Amino acid sequence: MIINTSKRLGTVQEYYFSRKLREIAQLNATGADIINLGVGSPDLHPADEVIAVLNTASQAALSAQYQSYKGVPELRFAFAKWYRERYQVDLNPDTEILPLMGSKEGIMHLSMAFLEPGDEVLVPNPGYPTYKAAARLAGAKVLEYPLSENGDWLPDMDFLQMFSLRRVKMMWLNYPNMPTGVPMDLERMKELVAFAKKEKILLCHDNPYSFILNPNPASILSIAGAKDVAVELNSLSKSHNMAGFRVGVLAGKQAYIDAVMRFKTNMDSGMYWPIQQAAIRALELGDDWYNDLNALYKKRRELVWAIFDRLDCTYAKNRVGMFVWAGIPDQYESAEVYSDRILKESRVFITPGSVFGSNGKRYLRISLTTGMDRLQTALERIKNGVTL
Ligand SMILES: Cc1ncc(COP(=O)(O)O)c(C=O)c1O
Repeated sequence: MIINTSKRLGTVQEYYFSRKLREIAQLNATGADIINLGVGSPDLHPADEVIAVLNTASQAALSAQYQSYKGVPELRFAFAKWYRERYQVDLNPDTEILPLMGSKEGIMHLSMAFLEPGDEVLVPNPGYPTYKAAARLAGAKVLEYPLSENGDWLPDMDFLQMFSLRRVKMMWLNYPNMPTGVPMDLERMKELVAFAKKEKILLCHDNPYSFILNPNPASILSIAGAKDVAVELNSLSKSHNMAGFRVGVLAGKQAYIDAVMRFKTNMDSGMYWPIQQAAIRALELGDDWYNDLNALYKKRRELVWAIFDRLDCTYAKNRVGMFVWAGIPDQYESAEVYSDRILKESRVFITPGSVFGSNGKRYLRISLTTGMDRLQTALERIKNGVTL
């Protein structure tokens, strides 16, 4: 006998990477030694001083106690300072900042706090799959807005106006964009804020990649009047190599933060105190931290470009963020077919863009989170393995 799951669960599937990593683990168990260029989990360490703070803090007498739902005041203050210095955005640390256990949970929290059956949500295609899943789990309907190479992977304002927007309550935006690596300038953000105001839509900007290979980090909250309709998620996962620490933040107007708090306080408790202390230290790191990290990613990106050259894929060099996104050659029917072939012939896993939506089906995505030696081996294997 088995007890039925909820109808709600039927609206989502197990996360693609969860399935694929199981498949790769099975192949590895047979001795295949797959090089995984798919997942965007930083392989590099957080700064030494961040680890030192974590270690020391874990010895503190009360470190394992329940923590405030809003995080310690010093962490909120550190996020506010970081936003002021790095994005020129003023946020009140007491009312406009909510630390999260990673930005992914914030996507779900926002969806649960603002959506209900009958609501519609604008979601990018291609885009981070969690936006869609969270909307569906909250009972809302997903409306995909297309991003395309011809449109520089930016939302088409005329196209957006063509939707019937009456029921649209929320729109997801993510720049620097994952998976395409395109940044968005402030002018376009301004247009989107105006659109959201006119149509009374909550604009949720997901901003975890702004410090990776990006000369102009930007926050949507820097647009005048944006706080009325926009909130922003941010994260230390990629910018500070702290993905496993689970440290993110929701920034925005008090009314929006309070609404998410109402949901979140019923779901979880505050973050482990030593992690909060480590995050405070991470947020204080100076320019050298970001410059050194990016120098490494820049070198890796050269090798990733060489891999894509060898695979006869096309890509733009003026992209930012932690991934390289490339179009597949015409002779392959889809990126999934090509990715499976590369996996089989070269024992290298590359993410097919279809994971991010139908508009990604002729693209592959390589993450920059693999070291130079392993990337070099991947290149050699592909040179020897894949017959074009
Ligand atoms: C676009 C995007 N948003 C959010 C996340 C989640 O990041 P976090 O580790 O902060 O939960 C990711 C992680 O891959 C991502 O690519």
